[in-house]
Amino acid sequence: MIDILRKRRSIRIYKEKEIDPDTIDKLKEAALRSPSSRGINPWRFFFVADKAKLARLSEAKEHGSAFLKDAGLGVVVCADERQSDVWIEDCSIASIIMQLAGQEVGLGSCWVQIRNRLHKDGQTSEDYVRNILDLPGNVRVESIISFGYPDEKKPPVPKEQLEFDKIVCVD
Ligand SMILES: Cc1cc2nc3c(=O)[nH]c(=O)nc-3n(C[C@H](O)[C@H](O)[C@H](O)COP(=O)(O)O)c2cc1C
Repeated sequence: MIDILRKRRSIRIYKEKEIDPDTIDKLKEAALRSPSSRGINPWRFFFVADKAKLARLSEAKEHGSAFLKDAGLGVVVCADERQSDVWIEDCSIASIIMQLAGQEVGLGSCWVQIRNRLHKDGQTSEDYVRNILDLPGNVRVESIISFGYPDEKKPPVPKEQLEFDKIVCVD
């Protein structure tokens, strides 16, 4: 696991290669194995591989989502807010778990923040995405995780650059 953490970087440029179904199955399993508060599992995961839908999702915000259109897969991470008051935490954990699972099976990935972001003309990114996927109002959208075979290389962050001063050991 520490090796996966060392190598993981946000990857936004992908090869034009389809992600094979076995690999996608592993991402699905990883998502569903995520811990959630009180085991309620309020999440819903929308696995989007359709190019036209990915292109629309890539316009969810003015900045920081354009690369989704060239991804092999976008996973829209949502939750039913009526089921849990900590759905944001649950969705965030599932998002990063999928990213780490993706790293293990050779996929690059990047988190696209949707909650609390704006599309344009005052419309929220959440409403924009909700409209594309035809989601009811109680289904909240936290993130979209883009996946694809990496077409950019990013070196691991050297250990010396980690901000160890942010860790306080309390005796
Ligand atoms: C909560 C969260 C939201 C993020 N939102 C975006 C985003 O909308 N667009 C984007 O390109 N990257 C996004 N990122 C990726 C970060 O920019 C990236 O993780 C950070 O710069 C550190 O780089 P690294 O992942 O390569 O270590 C997000 C990451 C997190 C954890």
